[in-house]
Amino acid sequence: MIFNCELVKTVDDSYDIEVGHSLGDTLVSELSGGLCGKASRFILISDSNVEPLYGREILEKMLSAGLKTDMIVIPAGEKSKTREMKEYIEDKMLSLGCRRDCAVIAVGGGVVTDLSGYVAGTFGRGVPFVNYATTLLSAADASVGGKTAVDTPLATNLIGMFNQPKKVYIDIDTWKTLPQRELSSGLAETIKHGCLGDSELFEYLEKNIEKVFDCDREVCEYISHRNCAVKYKVVMQDERESGLREILNLGHTVGRAVETVSGYRLLHGEAVAIGLVAQARLGLELGFVDERELDRIKALLGRAKLPVRIPEYIDAGELVEKLYTDKKVRNGRLRFVFEDGIGKMKCFGDNVYSLEISKEQAARIIDTMY
Ligand code: GLY
Repeated sequence: MIFNCELVKTVDDSYDIEVGHSLGDTLVSELSGGLCGKASRFILISDSNVEPLYGREILEKMLSAGLKTDMIVIPAGEKSKTREMKEYIEDKMLSLGCRRDCAVIAVGGGVVTDLSGYVAGTFGRGVPFVNYATTLLSAADASVGGKTAVDTPLATNLIGMFNQPKKVYIDIDTWKTLPQRELSSGLAETIKHGCLGDSELFEYLEKNIEKVFDCDREVCEYISHRNCAVKYKVVMQDERESGLREILNLGHTVGRAVETVSGYRLLHGEAVAIGLVAQARLGLELGFVDERELDRIKALLGRAKLPVRIPEYIDAGELVEKLYTDKKVRNGRLRFVFEDGIGKMKCFGDNVYSLEISKEQAARIIDTMY
């Protein structure tokens, strides 16, 4: 006997991304107005760097507005993005009495938003969440697009889920307290967006990149909007990465591997910068970019104070093996995505955006990067 369980779904996961300055009051007023549906209590998740700067202030605003809220603070840094930390947060939420009546408010950078979105996706089989992004990296990439995950000892982001927030707030004022390395890290994802889908953004960065370090209002607003536009043009067509979304991986094949092998001494964006150069060098060999384009990419990354070479302490052999933990690997074979000049991506067939690369080709490029 066969029962057919008809479960055709029409899902509307649309949401707004608000780019602005000091958006705490907006967040609180929208939560009070029902942004998270029937949620009657809130868990604010932040990290040890962001909590004293912005987390506590937002918590106080929420409490003053009569929103029942508890805060959970995790140690800052990529090393917190683990299954163990997810379990810690979940146990804490359970001990606070949270059930399906709660919503998660992530206040922080990519580690906090990735982890919180994943917690929200599985807690009570799913509760709403909101991202309040306080870094350029999370504004450019992590907090938007609905990818949530934790890292494992093998590699970054291997365990997670697609889970879209109810809203993303990008508070540009918070960038003023970011150390230069963190701003640079976010610039790597911004340069990536220029390379993969927006030559005007790339040219704008060539004219203005230093102004990001001064937190120039106009420049920061412009790059935030362009980052969202490039990313969402892709995500709206292929939310679950069945093809096109792979292009957002530009620079990440080598980048993620370098980040893991460095033991997280390299920030995510620093590793992506190295990956962008590796990818462009390989693209040069394959005729997808020319010398001038490779030089422009390296020069812009350099001006963003990002590394363009692999640090000596990274073992080339270990790095090549680590490439095989990449999510794009198919049948044990490595695949890379490539820019087609600056501002668009190579397409290799119907909805195929990655190309198989041999271990020897990858190893040769890695060797040129020291
Ligand atoms: N960070 C790549 C993506 O969101 O698909």
